[in-house]
Amino acid sequence: MAVAVYPGSFDPVTLGHQDIIERSSKIMDRVIVGVLKNNSKSPLFSVQERVNMLKSVTGHLPNIEILAFDGLLVDFVRNCQADVIVRGLRAITDFEYELQMSQTNRVISPGIDTIFLTTNLKYSYLSSSIVKEIAMYQGDISAFVAPEIAVKVLRRAADVKNKRPS
Ligand code: PNS
Repeated sequence: MAVAVYPGSFDPVTLGHQDIIERSSKIMDRVIVGVLKNNSKSPLFSVQERVNMLKSVTGHLPNIEILAFDGLLVDFVRNCQADVIVRGLRAITDFEYELQMSQTNRVISPGIDTIFLTTNLKYSYLSSSIVKEIAMYQGDISAFVAPEIAVKVLRRAADVKNKRPS
């Protein structure tokens, strides 16, 4: 049985992430989406909120599980008894960072490989950071995230903006 871990911050989950999850669910027997807890990027959503959002957009996929993780990705992969890490590659700009991560992970844990799925062209420009930036100005994010995610992101962005000193 082939088990993959698809790790990330997912702050918030985008249609690009959903595309990678759907496609890997067809290739692998089981896919565990690992949501990073100790994120130095000071996320807009708590890890539990990010897990819940991922659950709501992947509910129709029976072989997907959403789990939070802390610490090293390779330890999480080992604990899950997974075979590989899945990452999406959007453009050449992703390549250097992804190569560094996958090579480092393989050095510290030689049994663990990373496979890359090239992102659907429709989403090759898309990132959670761009979605958050647009949301901070209450812009239209409906082309980038699922409708239920858009509602949550716009609401949280408005809350954050209201609390900031002007
Ligand atoms: O969605 P992101 O932010 O690009 O995901 C990055 C992630 C979570 C895959 C990466 O930061 C990670 O694996 N963090 C866990 C800590 C770790 O194992 N670091 C060493 C990787 S070289």
